Amino acid sequence: MKGIINLQVNKIYNEDCLVGLKKIPDNSIDLVVIDPPYDICTKGGKKGSGRLCHDLTKLENELKESNLVNGYDLSVLDELIRVMKEINIYIWCNGRQIPTYMKYFVEQLGCKLEIIIWGKTNPMPLYSNKYLGDKEYCLYFRKGGYCKPNSYEDAKTIYLSTLNVKDKQMYGHPTIKPLPLIRKLIRNSSKENEIVLDCFIGSGTTAVASMLENRKFIGFEINKKYYDIALKRISETSKEDDIND
Ligand SMILES: C[S@@+](CC[C@H](N)C(=O)[O-])C[C@H]1O[C@@H](n2cnc3c(N)ncnc32)[C@H](O)[C@@H]1O
Repeated sequence: MKGIINLQVNKIYNEDCLVGLKKIPDNSIDLVVIDPPYDICTKGGKKGSGRLCHDLTKLENELKESNLVNGYDLSVLDELIRVMKEINIYIWCNGRQIPTYMKYFVEQLGCKLEIIIWGKTNPMPLYSNKYLGDKEYCLYFRKGGYCKPNSYEDAKTIYLSTLNVKDKQMYGHPTIKPLPLIRKLIRNSSKENEIVLDCFIGSGTTAVASMLENRKFIGFEINKKYYDIALKRISETSKEDDIND
């Protein structure tokens, strides 16, 4: 693909994205959709006992083992700004990360902000001293970036679904995001054949969504286990595409 030095599009790479991003030239990416590790305070807090608390501890351990609770090196953001043609980026995050992103994108770079919410209709009933964990945030920052929903449904900023337990079981990634929602973000903020980048691709949701929406993609995943899962998902999707052609 013209313009992408040392990297092919429609491929994912088993690589630290800080290394991989350096191979992407300036101003070559149309849209970025990322879901980096959250910054979660896992210390303290009574867990109690019972099956629910056991499930929660199991999930927390899985997230810790996969390095999904300690945030990430924010110099990735500088690289993403460099490679984007215009600032056009969706970032999944937790509440603790919102101030950092606001400072970087709104205060320093003068971007517009929209907040997309994934609302979960059946969250775990844990509300001792806190609200339910029934939503996740996806921040959309743009400066000249593209946002053109084609339908009333696509223009909604709140996406409701049950917990995606089946996806987690099917693809073996603890923080997999809903495919229909990622497809909608890609439809709204890019055009056919444009290049979508996800440098924390996990189980490959952004790649699969890009394929289904006729966009090109590039992805990075540092963890070999998740990289293999994503590769398998991508290859199954291309087989389905061939059958439907
Ligand atoms: C929150 S998960 C993404 C899940 C994904 N949205 C999905 O639907 O499957 C973040 C992923 O980023 C990966 N990761 C963390 N640091 C990375 C880095 N420096 N470079 C590339 N991947 C990284 C983790 O291994 C993890 O799979």
